[in-house]
Amino acid sequence: MFTFNSPTKLVFGNGVADTTAREIAGMGARRVLIVTGPGRTAASEALTKIKSGLEAEGSTWAHFAGARADPSTDMVDEGLALYRNEGCDSILAYGGGSPIDCAKGIGAQAGEGRPIRDFIGTGLAFSAPVPPLIALPTTAGTGSEVTNAAVFTFMEGGQKVKRGTAGASLFPRIALVDPLLQISMPPELTAATGMDALTHAVEAYVSRSHNPVADFFCLESIRLIGENLKRACRHGEDLEARAGMALASTLAGIALSQAGLGMVHGFAHAAGALGGLAHGLANAILLPYVMQACIPDASVRLASIGRALTGRHSATAIDAVAAMADLGGEVGIPPNLAAAGIPEALLGAIFDDAKTYKRRPQSPHAFTDEELKIVLYKAWSENMAE
Ligand SMILES: [Fe+2]
Repeated sequence: MFTFNSPTKLVFGNGVADTTAREIAGMGARRVLIVTGPGRTAASEALTKIKSGLEAEGSTWAHFAGARADPSTDMVDEGLALYRNEGCDSILAYGGGSPIDCAKGIGAQAGEGRPIRDFIGTGLAFSAPVPPLIALPTTAGTGSEVTNAAVFTFMEGGQKVKRGTAGASLFPRIALVDPLLQISMPPELTAATGMDALTHAVEAYVSRSHNPVADFFCLESIRLIGENLKRACRHGEDLEARAGMALASTLAGIALSQAGLGMVHGFAHAAGALGGLAHGLANAILLPYVMQACIPDASVRLASIGRALTGRHSATAIDAVAAMADLGGEVGIPPNLAAAGIPEALLGAIFDDAKTYKRRPQSPHAFTDEELKIVLYKAWSENMAE
């Protein structure tokens, strides 16, 4: 028995950002809170065009540009204050995973009438209707534009933590995935976010909660990444490669909402919160090490991943892990956590946090704590791409 629930309307293709105002009017919304980060996207020409489009369509907007990387619950509070003060009735998220997740938090908090923090790790489920959310991703990695999940950073027990929450009300109403919005991504961001998408597809495919419909999305996503990530990193203006990566990211997002994730994300959230390591980079480094440890339990599925990623029919699980490490190396991902700047002294705290990851039971291998520690130390010191 399985459920496949992906209620977000997906509009995909070059130039679909131009339809934003029409889509918002179609949702019956009149006053939109635009949520972005504070950087280049906030001042981009593409966003200015979207704002003009909204005005031409008779809608008005307010702009919250405070959704920084790894959004905190405080940022959600700030965004919600603006949403209420400005009398908004809908939300438009424009940017990478951070503004989209922050926008989900603002919407959930507006609808539920209580802090988003109440829904993280407490067992409390979302139940209230939320304002309509339209998401336009400017990176190809997070998939948040089509997922039912969001991740927030906050203090817990005197320590900074990153924790996710999920619920059907977090699915955006509409995802406008426009590869043209992603061509200005620099190679490093293209690589890190692309490897995040690969991690989503791989972890969802080998997850204990995998299902046959999500499997299609995973394998096609992995195939597209094998075909397009290096091209998109080397030739940012290659629209075909950008479209391939944009679709791969969205497909992986749809899959992870059905099948879940695994310990790559468990470690990456801990390394992000405690060591400031960017999410995509952390995943990219950890992916081959965690998958290597899963080979005895997931050799058939990993071999399928190897075939999809490399196009070689003879690929085995071992080849798949090697191909993930090689791909990371070729797009400039550091070979291990030490090379990415994580000090050895932090590994104990990263382990302590990661071992409590709520999706740990979805991992194909039932890691003991000792095994998790070994994987983490290998990922800190070894070099699989050699
Ligand atoms: Fe991720």
